[in-house]
Amino acid sequence: MRLPLQGALPNRIPVAGPDISDLEVSLVADAARGGFYQGANQYQSRFEQEFAGYVGVSHAVALPSCTSAIHLALAAMGVGPGDEVIVPDITWIATVAPVLYLGATPIFADVDPTTWCIAPTSVEHCLSKRTKAIIGVDLYGGMCDWARLRGLARAANVRLIEDAAEAIGSSWMNQRAGSLADIGAFSFHGSKTMTTGEGGMLVTNDGDLLARVLRLRDHGRAPNDFFFENEEVGFKYRMSAVQAAMGLGQLSRLQQFLDKKRRIFSLYSEHLAGLDGVTLNAEPAGLYNSYWMSTVVWDESYDILKKGVMARLAARGIDSRPFFNPLSSLPALSNIASAKPARERNKVAYGLSERGINLPSALCLEDDDVLWAACVLRAALESSRVAPVSARERPAAAVVPASPEKVAIPSRSAA
Ligand SMILES: Cc1ncc(COP(=O)(O)O)c(C=O)c1O
Repeated sequence: MRLPLQGALPNRIPVAGPDISDLEVSLVADAARGGFYQGANQYQSRFEQEFAGYVGVSHAVALPSCTSAIHLALAAMGVGPGDEVIVPDITWIATVAPVLYLGATPIFADVDPTTWCIAPTSVEHCLSKRTKAIIGVDLYGGMCDWARLRGLARAANVRLIEDAAEAIGSSWMNQRAGSLADIGAFSFHGSKTMTTGEGGMLVTNDGDLLARVLRLRDHGRAPNDFFFENEEVGFKYRMSAVQAAMGLGQLSRLQQFLDKKRRIFSLYSEHLAGLDGVTLNAEPAGLYNSYWMSTVVWDESYDILKKGVMARLAARGIDSRPFFNPLSSLPALSNIASAKPARERNKVAYGLSERGINLPSALCLEDDDVLWAACVLRAALESSRVAPVSARERPAAAVVPASPEKVAIPSRSAA
């Protein structure tokens, strides 16, 4: 049998990807052989216990994905037709899809211009008598203003979910991402800081929500039902032993991955310094940002949008990703009645989205890869610079010319 994937190295600079060592391989092999008979569920239970300990919560439930964790969270909270759930307009569609699975209505709140996470002032504006839950998303490793979100949720008597899919290892005032709401949800997709191939985790301190989640995730069976006496129609959301074994290995190496992500970010930060109107992920006081994706946004003094910059990087062998499109702009969601007012209201989300990209942040990157990506990005932006908005508004404003030819990009043999 050929194993064409073994040892394969990317010939482009990848935007995301994991670090898998012999430890994970041996744990997975053990689970493949031993995760049945008397070994059934042992890897899953250990992974759940160690993960809950890491995040600092009482309970963790291993699942096939973060999407399923959000689905279960909303279902356990009793969200259904007629209810509204407030979500940030900037996130991956997986945050909102489960709201629609349950027949509820998403309300798209604007995001904060600095953290890029849901803006509490906008949430306040979106609250109504029909609001049942708020989902905050810790975007790209940053974190929401959880103190204010919790205050708003408490005052309005609505539930709070933390979509921490992208933020394993981040913390705010020493409280880990995922532990700040009624339920937290994580993703272990292959692009994430730690992976189980595909997978997710739901965490909570609330025993009642946990009991509901455990029943719903197993086709409506009570956890100790040995006689197949399903009490309601639920879902089938479980993680396999092989995935849990991989997760255990990855969790034990998580700090190493976080150090690497922070190193990648610091290299971008250093090499993009001094570009006016260009900002990277924020790390306000009290936040430890896990920088899942080093991300750059630029202002209107650069006459180039995200697809243009992505094309410039791609031509040099560098993969990147677009800053998320506002959910209310997506063909899949734009017909929802609440999307139209969001398109008019969410100025920050729409502004950021056009002028931002995720930079290569894969765990396999070498410093040189990051420097090369920073160098090509810098050249792409510098050559697109027109002038600061204030200068352009003056009649005979001096435009700063920077033609691509003038920007020297060192050649690089193996990208
Ligand atoms: C913010 C956010 N929420 C949810 C998800 C869904 O995760 P999964 O693919 O594990 O379902 C992702 C994954 O990319 C995400 O980035």
